[in-house]
Amino acid sequence: MTAKPKKSPPAVDALTKAQAKVELMRLTLEIEGHDKRYYQDDAPKISDAAYDELRKRFNAIEARFPEFVTGDSPSQKVGVAPSGRFKKVRHAVPMLSLDNAFAEEDVVDFVGRIRRFLKLGDEDEIDFSAEPKIDGLSMSLRYEGGELVTAATRGDGTEGEDVTANIRTLEDVPKKLKGRNIPDVCEVRGEVYMTKQAFLALNERQKAAGETIFANPRNSAAGSLRQKDPGITASRPLGFFAYAWGEMSDMPADLQSGMISWFERCGFKTNPLTKQCHSVEQLIAFHRKIEEQRAGLDYDIDGVVYKVDRLDWQERLGFVSRTPRWAIAHKFPAERAITVLRDIEIQVGRTGSFTPVGKLEPVGVGGVIVQNVTLHNEDYIRGIGGDGEQLREGRDIRIGDTVVVQRAGDVIPQIVDVVIDKRPKTAKEYHFPKKCPCPLHTDVVRGETATGEEGSRARCTGEFACPYQKIEHLKLFASRRAFDIDGLGEKQIEFFFEQGWVTEPADIFTLPKRNAKFKLEEIEGYGETSVRNLFASIEARRNISLERFIFALGMRHVGETTALALARGYGSWTAFHDACLKVTKDDEEAIAEMDALDQIGDTVIASIKAYFGESHNRGIVERLTKEVTILDTEKPKSNSAVAGKTVVFTGSLEKMTRDEAKATAERLGAKAAGSVSKKTDYVVAGPGAGSKLAEAKKHGVTVLTEDEWLKLVGE
Ligand code: IVH
Repeated sequence: MTAKPKKSPPAVDALTKAQAKVELMRLTLEIEGHDKRYYQDDAPKISDAAYDELRKRFNAIEARFPEFVTGDSPSQKVGVAPSGRFKKVRHAVPMLSLDNAFAEEDVVDFVGRIRRFLKLGDEDEIDFSAEPKIDGLSMSLRYEGGELVTAATRGDGTEGEDVTANIRTLEDVPKKLKGRNIPDVCEVRGEVYMTKQAFLALNERQKAAGETIFANPRNSAAGSLRQKDPGITASRPLGFFAYAWGEMSDMPADLQSGMISWFERCGFKTNPLTKQCHSVEQLIAFHRKIEEQRAGLDYDIDGVVYKVDRLDWQERLGFVSRTPRWAIAHKFPAERAITVLRDIEIQVGRTGSFTPVGKLEPVGVGGVIVQNVTLHNEDYIRGIGGDGEQLREGRDIRIGDTVVVQRAGDVIPQIVDVVIDKRPKTAKEYHFPKKCPCPLHTDVVRGETATGEEGSRARCTGEFACPYQKIEHLKLFASRRAFDIDGLGEKQIEFFFEQGWVTEPADIFTLPKRNAKFKLEEIEGYGETSVRNLFASIEARRNISLERFIFALGMRHVGETTALALARGYGSWTAFHDACLKVTKDDEEAIAEMDALDQIGDTVIASIKAYFGESHNRGIVERLTKEVTILDTEKPKSNSAVAGKTVVFTGSLEKMTRDEAKATAERLGAKAAGSVSKKTDYVVAGPGAGSKLAEAKKHGVTVLTEDEWLKLVGE
């Protein structure tokens, strides 16, 4: 992208690689700008046909230059039909996802975890509802006074799209719930799907009409739902199976299986293969049986889901970040395909570590075209252990090899085998670079990092001077999970970085006032409106929550969950920052206090110490904090007697497991810590309590028995 006057864009076929990159960025901005006007401002500025043209051009360029496809590209929004733009709906209860099990041992572990968490003995039976995992689109249907009022897609789990008018055309979705005593508010959740037969027939019609051909039934269901004209949705045969719920003003049953029967009484279809199982053996037998039936079913499934039947147990088990402890998806084996490995390139990550990426002859694996695979590290390529477990033993990978590629669900595709018979004489062994591909060409180190991990990873030693690392950090900083700045996706970051306008996070916030110098609105691809929108979204992010801020710093081992734990633990930026600086000076009390926070241990502390111990990072943070206001973390709202208190469990507990005790404490707004300090409010001590009890006495902390604790929390 160069600072040239605006002119009409050249034909896709005539674009050079450099022009394509610029054009993709320009189109991304334009499409996102139109989406914003359409969704948020309710004021579209161009016709649907013109919007479709933009998307078509964008897709055509990406198809010619697939190397420019990034995770946040408009083309990667699954199933987005050209004109399918809908209003956003916030889910009253988030739509979460499921943890996956692939091997039978994973199922054994899942049941074992539940047993331990609930403190059940081996002889206690756990009933499960075992259900096929339908490969469609999850949908939340809200009924008020028994009438369907809103139908929303899952979206990001917090916010979905309003597809009510289209959903109303589905025969399987009752517009009014049947039966008596229907709760005032019912959110029925389940899966919209298209049968395989209907999918094939639809593709025939689409082909004849010269319209989009769908890759699989899931995409065709998504495309059919995201039509602006409900008449089109009505002409596409979509089905719906109910299997879950969101907000319910009253619960009509106390078992998962009871809820499924209730859905049926209300007029829904539920999956006929759903079965009650009472042991791990029965779950695994169910999985095998369904896998045998899979090909013969008229709808796609990608595994089975096991759910603890008792809803009071589901409640006690709760969630670990965004997946329930009480359910798991036992997936079917991954899909595979054979292709040729053309090249290997090095990708430099945010923390400097190298990931070799295999460039494949594009191949379809389970309905998706795969052209990049992760090769993990040098040992994996040489076939000597590390992450190499995935690769068949005794195999190494060479450029030119015919390889077996595997893709399982959302997991990044991998090479799992090499067809040795087809290895050409010209196949080239890959030699890991000795220098970083970044312009600094720094020496590469292999081995321990500051936190003593990632042993087999090669890393760039350029650290903060390596432009690849800086750019990756900026991408993370502006991404949806961190500062979430609209109009500042990966391509825009790359452009601003290449121009030298944004080289560290604070620069993003000073961009508007520096614009007089570089006049972004005069740059090809930007106009006054898109610049105004970009600057408005930057302004909107000057106030940021503490957990997002901590996550956005990009410290190793500090993901979203850890950032949230730190934000909750310290409450304010000042408290957290002070603690970090003390940790870098090996202040024992500060380290103990951090260590006492749930989920924080040596690795995270070492990483925080390494980060804040580096003056360059302190500079970045200092300049950034001058630009933004970091909001204190709200303590979890609770009127419980233990809200805001810090509690330590020690010794053996008899009525609940340690995990359950901690989960209850956190649900009630208390902080469950791992060690005792003078900031601890309660120590709950069971039989066998040792040093922590002694510590409690030393600091004069209130000590409770398990029963006293249960009484205090009212359970
Ligand atoms: S239960 C808290 N049951 O799988 C989780 N999900 O990875 C509630 N799915 O987004 C989901 N069949 O789209 C559940 N019988 C089933 C399902 C099912 C398909 C999908 C659903 C969800 C995804 C979770």
